[in-house]
Amino acid sequence: MDARERIERALEMALAGRQAMGCPPGLAAAVHYAVFPGGARVRPRLCLAVAAACGERGPGIADGAAAAIELLHCASLVHDDLPCFDDAPTRRGKASVHCAFGERLAVLAGDALIVTAFEVLGRSAASTPARLVPLLATITSSVGMPTGIVAGQAWECESQVVLDDYQRAKTGSLFAAAAVAGAQAAGADATPWRALGERLGEAYQVADDIQDVASAPEQIGKPTGRDRMLGRPSAVEQFGLMGAVQRVKDLVAAAVEAVPVCAGAGSLRMLIQAESQRILPRDLARLAA
Ligand code: IPE
Ligand code: IPE
Ligand code: MG
Ligand code: MG
Repeated sequence: MDARERIERALEMALAGRQAMGCPPGLAAAVHYAVFPGGARVRPRLCLAVAAACGERGPGIADGAAAAIELLHCASLVHDDLPCFDDAPTRRGKASVHCAFGERLAVLAGDALIVTAFEVLGRSAASTPARLVPLLATITSSVGMPTGIVAGQAWECESQVVLDDYQRAKTGSLFAAAAVAGAQAAGADATPWRALGERLGEAYQVADDIQDVASAPEQIGKPTGRDRMLGRPSAVEQFGLMGAVQRVKDLVAAAVEAVPVCAGAGSLRMLIQAESQRILPRDLARLAA
C-alpha cells in the first residue's frame, strides 16, 4: 500500500462508525465533510516519508501519527474559515464547513477533530506504547501554545506581529511536528529531522501567501485576496511578490539541504521538489526553478 492509501485508510478508520455509535448525525456529517475529500495531505505524507526513511515499515503508530496530524490540520482549517477568523466561504473547492453546516456545528466539528486526533494516536500505539510519550509531546506542542497553531492564530489578535513568529506558529509548527513524528514513530532519533519540517513549513506558508495574490479562487479552491483585505501579515506584503518567490526558492533549497543522510534521502528530496512546483502558481514556479 502506498503512502496516500495508508493515509486515506487511517483517516477512514479514525472516523468509521461514529454515526452508528450514537453521534448526532449533523456532527458526524460535518466532521466527515471536513476531512473528505482531502487536500494535498502534505503533512501526513511528510510524516510517512520520514518514517520510511528511518526504516519504519508500518502499519502502526506512524499511520496513527500521520492521521492525527492531518485531523489536526483539518480542524485548524475549519476554525480558520469561521466568520470570527478569516470568514472564508469556500475551502478545497466546496462550501466551507460553517457555510454547509452552520457555525455551531463547525466549532464543534473542529473541537471533535482535535479530540479524535489524540484518540487515534493513542489507539495506534498499542504495540509500541513507549513511542507514544515523545509523539504526544511533539504533536501537542505543535498545535497548542506558546508556539503552535493556536498561538499562530492568536497573533492575529495582537497589534504588533513579527511575520516569522506568526508563520512559524500557524504553519511551520505542524510541518516540523510531521517530520519529527515520522522519526519518532520509527523509533529513530528525531533531532536531525526538525529543520527539514521547519523549512518546508515556512516555504509552504510563503507560497500560500503568494497564491492569495497570484492565483484564481478556482485554482486553489478557496478565496483569494484575503490577506490584504483582513490586514494579515504576509510574505508578499513584507518582501513583494518576487521577493516572496525568491524566499520560497531559498527555503525549498534549505529544506532539500536539511534532509539527513539516510537510505530514503532521494525520495524525500523528490517529494520536496514536487511540492515546491505544486504550491506556486505555474508561471511563478518557472521563474523559481
Ligand atoms: C492550507 O494548508 C493552510 C496553510 C497552512 C497554508 P494546505 O494547503 O495544506 O491545505 P490542504 O490540506 O491541501 O487543503
Ligand atoms: C493558515 O493560514 C492558518 C491555519 C493554521 C489554518 P491561512 O489563513 O493563510 O490559510 P488559508 O489561506 O486560509 O488556507
Ligand atoms: Mg485562512
Ligand atoms: Mg492563506
